[in-house]
Amino acid sequence: MAESAVISNGLEGIVVAATRNSEVDGQRGQLIIRGRDAEELAFASTFEQTCALLWSDVEAADEVTVQKIFADARLKAFDLFSANLSLLKQPHPMDALRTAISLLTSGTEISFREYAKITAAVSVFVANWSRIRSGLQPLQPDTSLGQSADFLRTVRNSVATEAEIQALDTYLTTVSDHGMNASTFAARVVASTESDNISCIVAAIGALKGPLHGGAPGPVLAMLNAIGEPANAEDWLAKELDSGKRIMGMGHRIYKVRDPRAAIFEQAIKRLESNGLRATRLPLARAVEAKAEQMLAERHPDRPLKANVEFYTAVLLDALQIPDEIFSATFAVGRVGGWCAHIAEQRQTGRLIRPASQYTGPRPKQLVNS
Ligand code: COA
Repeated sequence: MAESAVISNGLEGIVVAATRNSEVDGQRGQLIIRGRDAEELAFASTFEQTCALLWSDVEAADEVTVQKIFADARLKAFDLFSANLSLLKQPHPMDALRTAISLLTSGTEISFREYAKITAAVSVFVANWSRIRSGLQPLQPDTSLGQSADFLRTVRNSVATEAEIQALDTYLTTVSDHGMNASTFAARVVASTESDNISCIVAAIGALKGPLHGGAPGPVLAMLNAIGEPANAEDWLAKELDSGKRIMGMGHRIYKVRDPRAAIFEQAIKRLESNGLRATRLPLARAVEAKAEQMLAERHPDRPLKANVEFYTAVLLDALQIPDEIFSATFAVGRVGGWCAHIAEQRQTGRLIRPASQYTGPRPKQLVNS
């Protein structure tokens, strides 16, 4: 490639696909998922309904069928994972999830059942990994429940309230798809080679694990715990920034304004509170966000760095008593719906993704002189 070529290391602004799945407007702070405003969808849809929406170009399915396909898929996944207990005992949840999902067999099939099989398996594995971690035995899925209710029941070993189930549906729907993020792109790159569906999902899990993508909410909770009370925020944040560290849950490649998903989660937390549940960390989170935003604006006046999805993910999932160890894996429980939609789209309309690079190494002598 010519030495004068413009290199886009992070592919900023490069459009690699046309998609019907979601649109992220970073200037206005708006997210559209399959024609619906994310905020409206998040409070109106169960996670299964969101998947049905995301996969509606693949196959239309009525509500009862959708619920049954997901429930059956959860049972099958449970049989697979409980027969491979050692996987549930792996210490890192995202590594464990990546390995566990590799056990599913698949080809390049584009179908609702195939995507439900994968999506349900992620949920069953993450919830049961968490149980084993808490010293409990794996728990067979309850097929009479929706996926969010079953997830909470499995993780917490008790039945969740309707308000909690709705809050988890809101969370999973909100994170289900988000433009050409790194894990979605990874899934599409693998799909573009005509490799199998599970290979696409395994690649996506690996991408999501990184702290610059889905690995941030656990560290956000750790930050809130370390700060302890609003009066400590300034000193704590200054030390982090002075030592060159990034503040987790702040900043976004696309959003130049506050991530709209942060507001959706704040609203979900408020709804939980109006149902009698106290999200103890909310006041502290608000204070830390305000201080971090102010300090980042002072240090980077030309680069707006505001709260992203992960900031209030930590507060919401914590309020739902989901252990921080599985925050990133719970992100995968929702995002897998979007990955499947993108894999289908890539297979139907895409092309082998094969960008170029510029060679900067030495050249053999005879070529330099020629
Ligand atoms: N804390 C402190 N500084 C930050 C920052 C943060 N959270 N996010 C960006 N910056 C700084 C960078 O260090 C860089 O500074 P420099 O110009 O002095 O080198 C400047 O802002 C521009 O950042 P850039 O690297 O261009 O941002 P990006 O688009 O590559 O990064 C993120 C986007 C999300 C990776 C980044 O904001 C980040 O690391 N956030 C924290 C991790 C996180 O919350 N991830 C979840 C994302 S949803």
